[in-house]
Amino acid sequence: MIEQAGLTVKQLEPLGVEIYGADVRAGLPEPVIEALEVEMANRGFIVFKQQTDLSADELVEVSKWWGAHEIHSTHGVHPATPGRNRHIFRCSNDSRHGILGVGPQWHNDGSFEAATFSHSAYYMARAPEQGGGTHFAHQGAAFDALPAEKQAFWERLVSVNSASSVTHPVVHTHPVSGRKSVWLHLGMTGGLLNEEEMKALFNDYNDLMNASFEKGYGIRYHYDTGDLLYIDNWALAHRAAPEAHMPAEKQGLRIIDRVTVKSKQDLAPHFGLPQYINISGPHPFNKDGVWQAGGVGFLWKDDIRLQN
Ligand SMILES: [Fe+2]
Repeated sequence: MIEQAGLTVKQLEPLGVEIYGADVRAGLPEPVIEALEVEMANRGFIVFKQQTDLSADELVEVSKWWGAHEIHSTHGVHPATPGRNRHIFRCSNDSRHGILGVGPQWHNDGSFEAATFSHSAYYMARAPEQGGGTHFAHQGAAFDALPAEKQAFWERLVSVNSASSVTHPVVHTHPVSGRKSVWLHLGMTGGLLNEEEMKALFNDYNDLMNASFEKGYGIRYHYDTGDLLYIDNWALAHRAAPEAHMPAEKQGLRIIDRVTVKSKQDLAPHFGLPQYINISGPHPFNKDGVWQAGGVGFLWKDDIRLQN
């Protein structure tokens, strides 16, 4: 159906789909948009190639194709953002052009919200000549790769966000694909277990994501200028490639605009637990448990840089 609409589809291995021949400004038929949303859930992300010179308003409008068809913005606006559009989060490796150093560890966008963003756009307004992309790992396939005893343990866990006190399940069932999927914010979790257990879990999760490249559920994506990439943010974890944060003089200037899409539903905890447990108050059940408010939350490794 996507090809009948005049688009050329290139499946990347093991994840992602590149789409050639689209002009997103001109729109797409509704059934094609719906089919692409299913593709994102199953294959993690899609990239509309060759969408150079999109305006801020065009980028925002196209992003409303997905999820609840609204933008969900929670970020500050860098002064270099086109039109100071409040829905665009402009990231760069040069502070004159955008925010530096965003997202070096595995995460999902908007984890501090109950209705964690359903989709995120990454629009590469200017690709760095020497590279500086994004790493992606499919969280449904990651769950499948876990040993059975860890699957059973993780399914019983709920994390508490260090910034907002929001709770999320460590394993959820994806609303579109129906796949059980892992979920953990490595740089913004304040409570979950005791210190030793939490360190083990976070390192396991980080190892699971790092193993994605060799085990066939992760990809290092390299952008061209004009790439308009959309992820299903409930299916795919991501982090900036290390080269993305190297200086512009070395890598070439990188300017990437992020737009985040409102979810139709909350990523709600199971077992009847509340959507918020006050992280600034006392620990609700376990005096030995970690209960760390603010900043990047629990520090699970000494030599790691965290930035949200
Ligand atoms: Fe991110």
